[in-house]
Amino acid sequence: MKKSWQISESEVTDHSTYLNRRRFMQGVGGAALLGGGLGSGLGNAVAETTDAVIRTIAKPEKPVAYTRKAPEWLQNKLAATVPSSIATDEDLTPFPYVEQYNNFYEFGTSKDDPFENAQNFKTDPWKVSISGEADITGDFTLEDILKPHDLEERIYRLRCVEAWSMVVPWIGFPLGDLLKRFKPSSKAKYVRFKTLFDPKQMPGQASRFTAIDYPYVEGLRIDEAMNELAFLAVGLYGEAMPPQNGAPLRLVVPWKYGFKSIKSVVSIEFMEQQPKTTWELSNSREYGFYANVNPEVSHPRWSQASERRLPSSLFSLNRMDTRMFNGYEEQVAGLYKDLDLKRYF
Ligand code: MTE
Repeated sequence: MKKSWQISESEVTDHSTYLNRRRFMQGVGGAALLGGGLGSGLGNAVAETTDAVIRTIAKPEKPVAYTRKAPEWLQNKLAATVPSSIATDEDLTPFPYVEQYNNFYEFGTSKDDPFENAQNFKTDPWKVSISGEADITGDFTLEDILKPHDLEERIYRLRCVEAWSMVVPWIGFPLGDLLKRFKPSSKAKYVRFKTLFDPKQMPGQASRFTAIDYPYVEGLRIDEAMNELAFLAVGLYGEAMPPQNGAPLRLVVPWKYGFKSIKSVVSIEFMEQQPKTTWELSNSREYGFYANVNPEVSHPRWSQASERRLPSSLFSLNRMDTRMFNGYEEQVAGLYKDLDLKRYF
């Protein structure tokens, strides 16, 4: 039976003919964005739906440079990306918002800092260290990491703890498929991820006025990491991952607040003990390890009951109710059946 979050099988297999209800129009220019993120000059792209557009993977209106900068082997993999059955059919957040309204504190704390400061971020060559409670450990090139995995496009909602949200067409592969390759031992109860530490390239890491300690660290319970929705992304919108979105490899955990979706990953460690994570270390009263999207558990300083879906403007807030587990309850609620979600927020 088709699950609520799946596009039907026939739509997926008959790739060239299946319907995509998304079409993008440039429209309604001029309205300023709330939150001061995007600069002027973009205009506001507004997504509209129609009923008869071929569903291929989503592309921005104008091609951008990220793919051309990626190594050739990665370009070839990206070109072979297929749409996944795991996709919401909500309107995509237009590409300019996805690539220019970011949280990536290593490149600055304003929403437009990462786009401005990350353009020359060097992501090739890139190494990922695999360590801890597993049979196979060591340093691997990005190519080694990606080689056996076919890339798919998954359209997920991304809900930031700051109460804005987007719908993003990510390109990547299931995290669990990668983790299994290293044969985690029975002691591997958690997985810890780390972002690159390189203050020469990342001005936020070099700053003395920083809200968080670096490197940025995140973690998942092993069963969360093995859930089919947990995803490692290497691209979005048909392109290689923009540096400001976490090139060349980032985590995407769609049922959790966006801060769990750690960017520019260089280390994956299997652990017996629950790791301390960056925002938890910074302020444990406000940010927990689990960080499951939950409209009933308020942040100490604001409600989480609703969210502002980008594009959002002063004249049209585009506010909507936040859904339990960001709308992925069917796939993940079972992970937490014995957990008090108010206590373990
Ligand atoms: N990863 C690192 N290394 N540093 C960060 O500051 N910010 C997180 C997450 N991953 C962050 C990070 C937060 S708060 C969010 S909401 C998402 O990235 C934003 O992802 P996006 O910029 O691609 O939308």
